[in-house]
Amino acid sequence: MQQMEVIDIKAIREQFPVLHQQVHGKPLVYLDNAATTQKPASVIEALVAYYKNDNANIHRGIHTLAERATMAFETTRDEVRQFIGARHREEVIFTRGTTEGINLIAATIGKQRVRKGDEILVSAMEHHSNMVPWQMLATEKEATLKIIPINEAGELDIQAFHSLLSEKTKIVSVVHASNALGTVNPIQHITEAAHQVGAIVVVDGAQSASHLDINVEEWKLDFFVFSGHKIYGPTGIGVMYGRKELLLEMPPYMGGGEMIGEVRYDGFTTNELPYKFEAGTPNIADTIALAESIRFINKIGKESIRAHEDDLLQYATERLLQFPEIKLIGTAKNKVSICSFIVEGVHHQDLGILLDQAGIAIRTGHHCTMPLMHRMGLKGTSRASFAIYNTREEIDALELALKKSIKMLK
Ligand code: ALA
Repeated sequence: MQQMEVIDIKAIREQFPVLHQQVHGKPLVYLDNAATTQKPASVIEALVAYYKNDNANIHRGIHTLAERATMAFETTRDEVRQFIGARHREEVIFTRGTTEGINLIAATIGKQRVRKGDEILVSAMEHHSNMVPWQMLATEKEATLKIIPINEAGELDIQAFHSLLSEKTKIVSVVHASNALGTVNPIQHITEAAHQVGAIVVVDGAQSASHLDINVEEWKLDFFVFSGHKIYGPTGIGVMYGRKELLLEMPPYMGGGEMIGEVRYDGFTTNELPYKFEAGTPNIADTIALAESIRFINKIGKESIRAHEDDLLQYATERLLQFPEIKLIGTAKNKVSICSFIVEGVHHQDLGILLDQAGIAIRTGHHCTMPLMHRMGLKGTSRASFAIYNTREEIDALELALKKSIKMLK
């Protein structure tokens, strides 16, 4: 509560132009932050400023604009290194997002390490992006994808995880915070156990990077991936952190310019890290703007962000539990600010449409976690997810709109 007094949410909201609008004649209440966060003016201005003043290709030119653009691009790498606690700047590889990061890992070290009869472990709560690339790899290599089960609250069954680990386990890939349930998984514990059997650990940080402190070095992670657009940054830019020793031994993912050392008619050598994994002209503008989103988060501080979002989560949970027809899906002890729920006798899609009429944006459906929905015996849920700029008043608006919508739909 102390943090609530310190941070000025009104001033934070002022930094987000998109929040100040009406939808269907009602003030916008944006509660779909797990899908994508809104962008502060500093991020939008960085994008515009790059195109207005500095647009040039990077790492190639010697002219002033090229130097400016290269400097700004590489500064983001330094910001990201600090943001996730990596030891070396060349361990930060820019990607299009979480999905590309996981596909890169599966297609490179995955193909190197996984052999016929081996096992890959993922959890029952994975997003399709941390499920399908491993299914593809398992099929290609005649390996087996094993699923770490969860309990009814949506928490990992850690005992089952330990019993699934063996010398056959080559990769353990788990989500840090579940996009559909909010559950925060014990990443350090999982990593330590996986390393004991010689497996590499991949962590999907798409839903954790904006909420939780990340320290890849201290946690001894092998890979950590996240997306810019879920941390108040632009779409189309993401990060794959990889431990240097592993990145050095991995083959490149894509071939082309920038990733090469030398090219002859009969072959090529690869560039040094991180460029070995950054073929082609990268997403320069969005990378530069990503630094602004990290500065935005750092300025408030993760501790303050968490205190505010935890308050919203607790408040929203209490309000939703007032409804006899609502059941929360995902009641883990350790959660990020995501509230998934179902309403007895009401289809989530109908509810989403009515809430939109009230100016309230939530996500409905399977949240790209169809196997998880199947496990929970559901087709989908309604999901409200909170960010630093949300308020208790917005949750009150959600409660009121829910009351009206449920009455209409039942
Ligand atoms: N993975 C994003 C979500 O959960 C798109 O909504």
